Amino acid sequence: MAGNSFGEAYRVTTFGESHGAAVGCVVDGCPAGIPFDDDYLRRELARRKPGGGSASTSRDESDEPEILSGVFEGKTLGTPIAVIIRNTAQKSGDYDRLRDVYRPGHADLVWDVKYGLRDHRGGGRSSGRETAARVAAGAVAKAFLAKHGISIRAWVRSIAGIEAPTPGGGGFDLDEAEANSLRIPCRRTAERAAAKIEELRKAGESAGGVVECHALGLGIGLGEPVFDKLDALLAQAVMSLGAVKGIEFGAGFASALMIGSESNDRPLASGIPPLASGKVAYSSNNSGGVLGGISNGARLEFRAAFKPVPSIAKRQLTIDREGREIDLEIGGRHDVCVCPRAVPVVEAMTALVLADLMLRGRGNRC
Ligand SMILES: Cc1cc2nc3c(=O)[nH]c(=O)nc-3n(C[C@H](O)[C@H](O)[C@H](O)COP(=O)(O)O)c2cc1C
Repeated sequence: MAGNSFGEAYRVTTFGESHGAAVGCVVDGCPAGIPFDDDYLRRELARRKPGGGSASTSRDESDEPEILSGVFEGKTLGTPIAVIIRNTAQKSGDYDRLRDVYRPGHADLVWDVKYGLRDHRGGGRSSGRETAARVAAGAVAKAFLAKHGISIRAWVRSIAGIEAPTPGGGGFDLDEAEANSLRIPCRRTAERAAAKIEELRKAGESAGGVVECHALGLGIGLGEPVFDKLDALLAQAVMSLGAVKGIEFGAGFASALMIGSESNDRPLASGIPPLASGKVAYSSNNSGGVLGGISNGARLEFRAAFKPVPSIAKRQLTIDREGREIDLEIGGRHDVCVCPRAVPVVEAMTALVLADLMLRGRGNRC
């Protein structure tokens, strides 16, 4: 199976199935001297863990990481970093009935047809559990980026159509996003969303939502202008997460409704040549901080749309391996909405892209 690695200069491979022995990652290309230790990694992983709130599953995944290589006395060595996270909360028996049944909204059917066999327990490699490995790899990338003044923050913008205020708008409070279990940057919106989630849970249903992500400190110049555009790589990175069905940068789809003079972010005069300062301010940020695939010095901004969690408690008609109709009731423990848990995963994927482009972009000019 191809496609388990991502990035060129900062190259990450993840491995493991959700009900196998462990999931993990190997990071190749991380520079030496980045502060990195178990405590920091544990804190990052804890943000992805289920069990924290109303949208989450009751699975108690311990997410205890073991750093196997590449780190010495709290700093990266520049050698490959290997991290494993053992799977300790599997209840594989929950999935026995699903061996020959294709769950709607999951990859079961396409895996079977493509490979002829699959690990049916918990989605195997397609499981959200795989994202723990991405968070571990992203934690190293974040620490590297922090040394270069780049920070990344994501939060839940909406759940089931209940939308939080926008940044800068009344009621928006980024600290609140880490204080409530839904990761919504507004307590009142979080309360409304929690009530909606409860209603959906009781009906055996699930909800979709939107995660917003911003990155600061990129400056001008991250991204390669043809195939490896900053926004193109971010789209690949974020769309590679399970349940993501869309991504938009800046004004995104609303750009299609604008006229040119509304859409254009005008550079503002400062009297200092941009080639000397490397800095420019803009009248707006409809581009989401990317022009021609290169960071333009404004805040990087994008939003990712997540579909409702496919495993729902409600009975659904589907088919089995023989093509017979099955009236399916899915057991196991599942999120009602993945968005709160996806927040650190979106941050991690963003960090992987930015770290890779930073390392690749070295030596562009003499
Ligand atoms: C962090 C995270 C957690 C997830 N947890 C669940 C879950 O508990 N139950 C579930 O049915 N799907 C979950 N998913 C979504 C499925 O993995 C995904 O929808 C499925 O593999 C089909 O892939 P697709 O939606 O990208 O087509 C999760 C996704 C992510 C990113």
